[in-house]
Amino acid sequence: MSIRFFPSLVLYSVITMLCILIAIPSSYCDEDELYAACNRPYTCGQQIRDMWYPFWGNNIRPQYCGRQGFELKCNDNQNSTILFGDQSFQVLNINMLAQKMIIARNDLLDSLCSAGMLEETIINHNLFSYGPNVRNISLFFACSGELSSLGQNNFSCTTIRGDTISGFYIINGDSLLQNRSNSCKKVIKVPFLKTDDLPVNNTNDLLAGRVTEVLKRGFEVEYRADNASCSNCLSSLGICGSNQSSEQFVCLCRDQPHTRTCPSGNGSNLKLKLGIGNIPTSLF
Ligand SMILES: *[C@@H]1O[C@H](CO)[C@@H](O)[C@H](O)[C@H]1NC(C)=O
Ligand SMILES: *[C@@H]1O[C@H](CO)[C@@H](O)[C@H](O)[C@H]1NC(C)=O
Ligand SMILES: *[C@@H]1O[C@H](CO)[C@@H](O)[C@H](O)[C@H]1NC(C)=O
Ligand SMILES: *[C@@H]1O[C@H](CO)[C@@H](O)[C@H](O)[C@H]1NC(C)=O
Ligand SMILES: *[C@@H]1O[C@H](CO)[C@@H](O)[C@H](O)[C@H]1NC(C)=O
Ligand SMILES: *[C@@H]1O[C@H](CO)[C@@H](O)[C@H](O)[C@H]1NC(C)=O
Ligand SMILES: *[C@@H]1O[C@H](CO)[C@@H](O)[C@H](O)[C@H]1NC(C)=O
Ligand SMILES: *[C@@H]1O[C@H](CO)[C@@H](O)[C@H](O)[C@H]1NC(C)=O
Repeated sequence: MSIRFFPSLVLYSVITMLCILIAIPSSYCDEDELYAACNRPYTCGQQIRDMWYPFWGNNIRPQYCGRQGFELKCNDNQNSTILFGDQSFQVLNINMLAQKMIIARNDLLDSLCSAGMLEETIINHNLFSYGPNVRNISLFFACSGELSSLGQNNFSCTTIRGDTISGFYIINGDSLLQNRSNSCKKVIKVPFLKTDDLPVNNTNDLLAGRVTEVLKRGFEVEYRADNASCSNCLSSLGICGSNQSSEQFVCLCRDQPHTRTCPSGNGSNLKLKLGIGNIPTSLF
């Protein structure tokens, strides 16, 4: 296919590129409002950059640019948090291609005691699942009887009221201990990443008592968010989004939202090439 057989296509593509590059008012380009609104990725600080569907938030991307459950909050352009229910997590890394992210519980970053209102870690199992290298640490707080002098992995922490609480932790759930947890004020499980083959050895750190360091490194969750639909949409030069009324996946296109793909994107290698700047870079 030679370029000179398709002069109007070339012209159209060039105009389209100009529209993207120098941001001519969208009325001139006749660009769909939702498409224009979602044509900006989420970026916050050094760590989380160029995030597209299913992520949204921070007044940059409205919810229809992403998916419910994937709102990111940017704190002072430094770090991002995501909420699961009312539990807040620090987002340390997102790999959009692998559909994974590494998150850490915000409440445990400063002190294992934090507010004294510790809960089990709760992820939304419809959208997220634990990565293959995730294990649990069980934290035992203020135990009495024989559990109070177990003699390993002790820690102590201070509550916001200023009380000092001592406790201990074990890697993975020892069911013998879990069964006797009623002699403790509180027992919770916290996921961590088992990274024995990396320079950072979380297992070694846990054995050496460095539990907060390990929890700060977070744990991995895999997310489910229409990866296949989104890939198809992107290859038709669309932008992935969701239907404002039904929250179903939609492909946002220059003309209007479509259920799956943009109509004009198909069969035109030329446009695909010229439009390449429009495909989220973080996918590569
Ligand atoms: C995230 O950024 C906020 C605002 O700068 C800062 O107060 C907080 O300590 C940061 N948290 C982490 C875990 O880096
Ligand atoms: C998501 O889709 C892309 C493009 O088709 C593919 O390369 C990638 O492996 C997919 N990721 C997952 C986790 O399925
Ligand atoms: C860790 O604990 C959570 C909550 O109890 C559980 O859903 C998960 O399967 C546990 N993970 C492992 C690896 O045992
Ligand atoms: C852990 O704490 C218990 C009770 O306070 C104590 O008996 C034990 O010796 C401590 N173990 C270590 C290794 O500090
Ligand atoms: C712990 O309790 C559960 C349920 O009560 C029981 O099935 C299990 O065998 C107990 N485990 C141990 C090690 O006692
Ligand atoms: C990490 O710790 C585990 C358990 O102690 C050990 O088996 C493994 O060899 C360690 N890996 C490195 C790279 O130190
Ligand atoms: C969005 O949802 C509404 C209501 O369910 C539906 O009528 C409309 O066709 C959907 N739009 C797209 C682009 O799928
Ligand atoms: C492109 O066209 C081919 C053949 O007409 C069709 O099989 C394919 O599904 C279309 N792809 C998209 C993304 O619309």
